[in-house]
Amino acid sequence: MSIFNIKNKTILITGATSGIGLEISKEFKKIGANLNLLGRNKKKLNNIELDLKNIKKNNSSFKLIKGDLTQDLDLIAAEVDNLDGIVFNAGIVDYKPLKFLDESELIELFNTNYFSSIFLLKKLIKQDKINYGASIVFISSLSASLGVPGTLAYSASKASINSSVRVLASELSRKKIRVNSIAPGLIKTPLIENEIFNNEKLMEEKSKYPLGLGNAKDVVYSSQFLLSDASRWITGIVLELNGGFKLK
Ligand SMILES: NC(=O)c1ccc[n+]([C@@H]2O[C@H](COP(=O)([O-])OP(=O)(O)OC[C@H]3O[C@@H](n4cnc5c(N)ncnc54)[C@H](OP(=O)(O)O)[C@@H]3O)[C@@H](O)[C@H]2O)c1
Repeated sequence: MSIFNIKNKTILITGATSGIGLEISKEFKKIGANLNLLGRNKKKLNNIELDLKNIKKNNSSFKLIKGDLTQDLDLIAAEVDNLDGIVFNAGIVDYKPLKFLDESELIELFNTNYFSSIFLLKKLIKQDKINYGASIVFISSLSASLGVPGTLAYSASKASINSSVRVLASELSRKKIRVNSIAPGLIKTPLIENEIFNNEKLMEEKSKYPLGLGNAKDVVYSSQFLLSDASRWITGIVLELNGGFKLK
């Protein structure tokens, strides 16, 4: 059996209904993980149910949990199973220079990208739902270590994740629970389907990555690695997926 195996591990994935989270959910189902999949949109949850039911490999199970991370943490924590792994993936983005950024927008972004995951984790720890030896992965962003204009709220929320994983890794090491984050560069998903990332802008961005743009599968494989026993000696790190962005 491969050391990268996550078969039979019970894993919570937040933001499972779109982009990177959807890709992680489908791939993890194929390789036999038992999944708790969180989404807030009923129609999208119905679609993912159809998608996953068609993947009949490995007798893996999945459970859909409907809830908004900024409103329903008690309900979500109550429905989650005892876990061997978590991918805190749900997130939103807002591109605005500080002078146009409202306080309410900054708060919403931090609530979604940072506070909700931290408070959900706190609830799960207090309810003893994180198994001994579990692995927790936060999806951060390359933005956290850059200074791109207009990304103050987003970058700061992701930087908060990166510093938190170091603290959490040491707090939870007593139970051999590992905590890491993955910081991807630009990946084509619905998150960047907006007026800013038109084709021209995408080509411009692509030229900054010696290895070209990444895709959701790159994040899937890194998540699998960090959730598997192959990474048993890795905790408190930020795994940057940047296609060589910082080499130039
Ligand atoms: N795409 C990139 O270039 C890129 C680069 C670096 C990091 N990331 C990070 O990767 C993660 C996934 O992004 P993506 O590109 O896959 O984006 P996406 O396609 O927009 O998916 C985001 C997911 O988060 C969910 N979500 C948002 N707010 C939520 C809330 N309050 N409660 C519950 N679920 C919520 C969304 O649910 P709905 O479908 O209901 O909205 C969706 O399932 C994010 O944390 C993002 O910051 C993305």
